[in-house]
Amino acid sequence: MKQSFFEITENKPLTPTVFLMNLKGDTSDITAPGQFVNIKLDGFFLRRPISVCDVEGDTLTIIYKVVGGGTEKMSEMLPGEKLDILTGLGNGYDLDKSGNHPLLVGGGVGVPPLYMLARKLIAQGKQVDVILGFNTKDEVFYEEQFRALGATVRVTTADGSYGIKGFVTNALDGINYTYFYTCGPEPMLKALYKATSTGGQFSFEERMGCGFGACMGCSCKTVTGNKRICKEGPVLTKEDIIWEI
Ligand SMILES: Cc1cc2nc3c(=O)[nH]c(=O)nc-3n(C[C@H](O)[C@H](O)[C@H](O)COP(=O)(O)OP(=O)(O)OC[C@H]3O[C@@H](n4cnc5c(N)ncnc54)[C@H](O)[C@@H]3O)c2cc1C
Ligand code: FES
Repeated sequence: MKQSFFEITENKPLTPTVFLMNLKGDTSDITAPGQFVNIKLDGFFLRRPISVCDVEGDTLTIIYKVVGGGTEKMSEMLPGEKLDILTGLGNGYDLDKSGNHPLLVGGGVGVPPLYMLARKLIAQGKQVDVILGFNTKDEVFYEEQFRALGATVRVTTADGSYGIKGFVTNALDGINYTYFYTCGPEPMLKALYKATSTGGQFSFEERMGCGFGACMGCSCKTVTGNKRICKEGPVLTKEDIIWEI
């Protein structure tokens, strides 16, 4: 884990409520897709965890949805302003398990951590299928960016206003995947857990306290004992998960 200052170089809306922020700084502790950063904001006691969307050299890209005071404050920040950020948090996705045809499934702001994962898997020569799930057309983002990487992309909207009508599980038919990776709201993760036939990895975006393993606030039960989502997660394997009914 590393604490350092990053300078905002871009902060722009992708949809009415979702923003992309590019920052320049020391990215050396970010080692795997699916890791997250924890951002200190003036006036807020707890840092706000946000997934790494991508890293290229000293540029960090994050994508965040405005849901409360912290993310609203972020959305008002301008290029040139600096943020105090902890990097290198969480385990991230394990690419070695992917097989030749991995499937990546993201829901809403669960989409961003899959971007760097797709980029890395495609660079390894893997055939990558992506399903992106949203509530409605206005919320869709990053479809073209995944296509530009060389992934095959399907988009679902719950209200049918764009792409396939329904949930991400409605888009699984006909994809002959070897393994899957996912991030999104818990009902989506549970549905995918049931609907998938292979092994896979799930990233959990729990509410957090410290974000680096000290407070136990994010502890959850798994097959292999209690795990802290911020430290031993946020990525857990399918075999490891015990859902609380
Ligand atoms: C490991 C991890 C990765 C994350 N990655 C992203 C990301 O890439 N992009 C993104 O937009 N968000 C992400 N989140 C969620 C993000 O941290 C919260 O939305 C943010 O902290 C809310 O701060 P706020 O001050 O704006 O809202 P608050 O005032 O803290 O909360 C406003 C509302 O949002 C809800 N909320 C707050 N935190 C969460 C959460 N973790 N999950 C679900 N609901 C929440 C609250 O219950 C409340 O209703 C991630 C969370 C974790 C733990
Ligand atoms: S948030 Fe403190 S241990 Fe995970």
